[in-house]
Amino acid sequence: MARKKPEVSRRAAITMIGAGAGLVAASSAIPTRFAIGGQAKVRIGTLLPYSGTYTRLGQAITNAMELAFTQAGGKLGGRDIELIKVDSEAKPPKAAELTNKLINQEKVDFVVGPVHSGVAMAMAKIAREEGTMVVVPNAGANQVTGAFCAPNIFRTSFSNWQPGHPMGRTLLDEGKKNVVLCYWAYGAGKQSAQGFKDGFVPHGGNVIKEIGIPFPKVEFQSALTEIASIKPDAVYVFFAGGGAVKFVKDWAATGLKDKIELVGPGFLTEGVTKAQGAAAEGIRTTLHYADTLDLPANHAFRSAYKKAYGKDADVYAVQGFDAGQLIRAGLDAVGGDTGAQAAMIKAMESASIDSPRGKWTMSKAHNPVQNFYLRKVKNGVNEVIKLAAENLSDPAKGCRM
Ligand code: BEZ
Repeated sequence: MARKKPEVSRRAAITMIGAGAGLVAASSAIPTRFAIGGQAKVRIGTLLPYSGTYTRLGQAITNAMELAFTQAGGKLGGRDIELIKVDSEAKPPKAAELTNKLINQEKVDFVVGPVHSGVAMAMAKIAREEGTMVVVPNAGANQVTGAFCAPNIFRTSFSNWQPGHPMGRTLLDEGKKNVVLCYWAYGAGKQSAQGFKDGFVPHGGNVIKEIGIPFPKVEFQSALTEIASIKPDAVYVFFAGGGAVKFVKDWAATGLKDKIELVGPGFLTEGVTKAQGAAAEGIRTTLHYADTLDLPANHAFRSAYKKAYGKDADVYAVQGFDAGQLIRAGLDAVGGDTGAQAAMIKAMESASIDSPRGKWTMSKAHNPVQNFYLRKVKNGVNEVIKLAAENLSDPAKGCRM
């Protein structure tokens, strides 16, 4: 990973263990209760993809969270920080074992992760029972802040329902009524499609066909052939990371780009427009972030991120940065005393985070209430076109908190 180190003296306080190889490489897990003199490091375990199709998402989240810690002077609540990185591989069957490892063996104070909704389902079930503090910096599984909601579980990203919902209305307003849906057929893709349908079907939209592709497969040819024969007004898709690169390139190569409008939640073009090249130009998506948001916090973040890592920030970086800021708010409020969990939770619930995406608030179920924008790719940049939904809140079905 080629990257420039920001402010070396501050970063020195953040120790990194593990990364890459599935399980953590830490040999001695030291409990870090404030009771042992306030000297122990705060242990933050990441359960993020450092391999597979979502690798760049996991890296962006980790980079930006580290940037937030660096900007905090390398300390949280007065304590140094130790990161224990675990590669989730975006594989749900491994999630329970890896979560247990972080919580019970590594005795982390916070788990930050995951990216994949299936991993999130397993992780959230365990974290609820264990009471370990969790900050979800991407995975949108509705249940995490729905039926599985818990005082110790926070999310700084979105619910899968949220980004798709405003796209339904956007297409209808333009008279596009007949749509095909195509998505990775796991929790995130299915819930994203449902969010779109909830904003589309009750207002007169018609979903002609849904095409599911097993995650993380990228053989799209038969789906594209079917779409070409249906000739809908638009196609709404959920793909991200490496899969989004492949889909957008295949879409253009098949000649559909000039015939049918391709839309989706912003993950379709986040962090991947360079790899997608000309095929991405003109694609419209809805998301809670856009590169060109004209906000002081966004300008400052994008330039600090570029300086530190030599690449452009994206929504995953924003969510990781805000995860770092949220943890900082919690730990600063209790002077680093992780045992004071109720006070820490209270501080995190009411934290005012100066996010690159703009101000957002935490819902009662611990999910962001935030603006969603219609965006369009121009010269490789996800540009804001307009506000598509103001302060959109997830329905938080089944949350009793
Ligand atoms: C998810 O699995 O929840 C997800 C993955 C990538 C982008 C957005 C959502």
